[in-house]
Amino acid sequence: MKAHSICENVFAIHADITTDTRFEGIWPIPHGVTLNSYVVKGAKTALIDLAKDWEGSIASFAEQLASCGSSFEKIDYLILNHLEPDHTAYIIEMKRRNPGMEIISTPKGIAMVRNFFKITEGLREVKNGDTLDLGAGRILTFFETPNIHWPETMMTWDATCGILFSCDGFGSYGIVGDRVFDDEFSADEHRFYEAESLRYYSNIVASFSSFVLKALEKLGSLPVRVVAPSHGIIWRTNPTEIITRYAKYAGYNTGAPCEKEICVIWGSMYGYTKQGVDAVIEGIKAEGVPYTIHQIPDTDASFVLADAYKAAALVLAMPTYEYKMFPPMAHILDLFERKHFTGKKAFRLGSWGWVGGAKKEYDARIEGFKWENLESVEWQGVPSAADLDLLKARGAELARQVKEL
Ligand SMILES: Cc1cc2nc3c(=O)[nH]c(=O)nc-3n(C[C@H](O)[C@H](O)[C@H](O)COP(=O)(O)O)c2cc1C
Ligand SMILES: [Fe+2]
Ligand SMILES: [Fe+2]
Repeated sequence: MKAHSICENVFAIHADITTDTRFEGIWPIPHGVTLNSYVVKGAKTALIDLAKDWEGSIASFAEQLASCGSSFEKIDYLILNHLEPDHTAYIIEMKRRNPGMEIISTPKGIAMVRNFFKITEGLREVKNGDTLDLGAGRILTFFETPNIHWPETMMTWDATCGILFSCDGFGSYGIVGDRVFDDEFSADEHRFYEAESLRYYSNIVASFSSFVLKALEKLGSLPVRVVAPSHGIIWRTNPTEIITRYAKYAGYNTGAPCEKEICVIWGSMYGYTKQGVDAVIEGIKAEGVPYTIHQIPDTDASFVLADAYKAAALVLAMPTYEYKMFPPMAHILDLFERKHFTGKKAFRLGSWGWVGGAKKEYDARIEGFKWENLESVEWQGVPSAADLDLLKARGAELARQVKEL
């Protein structure tokens, strides 16, 4: 594959990673992920972000570097917006191949280069607003955007062409093939990538929404013409689309409205809790509120997080298991806490067999979540007709609350 020209002397290179291994060792990527880097040429050449050696990524990078007249050996400056190893692990080998290159990052980033990768020479710290003059009229500016999603993160700005090299910010799962720009994808394809960007955000960025909002404020006055992230599509025709989308995602857990829909998450050993879920859904349907539904653990938490994150309301259905919640639900709630899924309306239901226990654990678990909860409904074994009526009524009540938002 050839490098893609973004504007004069700026090239995008990327590796499409297709793998059964999980991203960050936890998130499945059935549609793959791209690792994007950027070459910026003045009199000197900068490479913005690197890669890890993953499913042929380095061979692919080498080929694309060659296609724009460069190579790992010819890079003068390696700019690291973020030190996570998906963008840096190849640094050890690259330093061996190119000992003279200078590595540029924030002070925290440079500390990580030293401590994490044991590289001690050729390091340059840059702070917010600092610049790098590549010569021939090309100047890059650095903006510290901490905690999107690591503490050392920065973004790099090319004023000549209005390109924001945003690293993980504005990123997405999903490979792109030989098309990399937003205007090369159909509306249907954009719907697919939108779902993948929400999943990426909910999995990886959601804990840091307040920092995303701060970064958006900080960068708000830049005349951005191209958003060039480290994963996914490069936005050259409609950069506002991805910026607005990220602002919306950041709002979901910082007090802005979520989508007027309900995410139903359920697990069941013998189907009795599921009977209750069906009744709740009847109630939701009667009110005409859209909903998504996921059985756990069959659906991976990565996908559950995406739908739950954007939904204004949640239905959580789990039986009692060894005096506590059905364990897959405990895992989901743990992720909700870690990723700050606050401000939801919620309704819990479930079957028990001996003396119950799920409710007690659930109530304690969600105490700090700032959720508005409908009263739980529990029953022993098979739900009675009265139980089912009550469950349907609760589903309808929750749906009405969502409609009124
Ligand atoms: C492994 C296992 C552990 C269970 N632990 C409890 C328990 O601690 N307390 C309780 O009341 N019922 C317990 N039960 C009974 C279930 O909660 C009960 O059968 C319930 O109806 C299952 O609902 P389901 O069909 O939705 O899985 C347990 C059942 C199993 C299979
Ligand atoms: Fe990252
Ligand atoms: Fe990344």
